[in-house]
Amino acid sequence: MRHAAAGDLPAVAAIYTHYVLRTTTTFNTEVRTPRQWRERFEGPIARGGHRLLVAEVAGEVTGFVETQRFRPKAAYDRSVELSVYVAPDATGHGLGGALYGELLRQLEDDQRFHRAYAIVALPNPTSVRFHERWGFVHRGTLTQAGHKFGRYLDVAYFERAL
Ligand SMILES: CC(C)(COP(=O)(O)OP(=O)(O)OC[C@H]1O[C@@H](n2cnc3c(N)ncnc32)[C@H](O)[C@@H]1OP(=O)(O)O)[C@@H](O)C(=O)NCCC(=O)NCCS
Repeated sequence: MRHAAAGDLPAVAAIYTHYVLRTTTTFNTEVRTPRQWRERFEGPIARGGHRLLVAEVAGEVTGFVETQRFRPKAAYDRSVELSVYVAPDATGHGLGGALYGELLRQLEDDQRFHRAYAIVALPNPTSVRFHERWGFVHRGTLTQAGHKFGRYLDVAYFERAL
């Protein structure tokens, strides 16, 4: 597990694009352009104290985890949102766990954030189990808060102390 470099962005984007276009695991419906990825990388990640870690298998980026602001208002400064995606043919082999293990260790070490949140679009039993295993507690579910591919989607809020 390592911090992403600019050269990793196309591989990261390819993984994320799959989930945007084919699944409801992310509520984004449009792919992030290379420029948007670069701006994110150069802004919140390079300068804003956020993180993008990648997992590499045999020299290929096969998963990533990123942090971002939880909500825009200032009182949320000490909360952070986590998003994790493993390439669809590489799930279930511990990569997501390795990414979360490393990221949570870093977040706990630097003490900038007090709470971590993961927002899980339902149904996603793998992600629910995954977050529970990593110490996240289910704090509530919003019903039909999302709408993608012609149907309403519930979204579960998971919280972990840092
Ligand atoms: C959710 C996600 C990030 C988890 O990452 P992952 O790499 O699949 O997770 P892990 O392999 O660390 O753990 C998942 C399961 O694999 C098992 N596992 C871990 N290492 C393993 C190995 N070497 N061999 C076989 N199984 C293994 C774990 O025990 C775990 O099973 P359990 O939950 O029944 O205990 C990943 O499945 C994913 O990207 N899913 C699609 C996108 C998504 O839903 N992202 C989250 C949005 S909220």
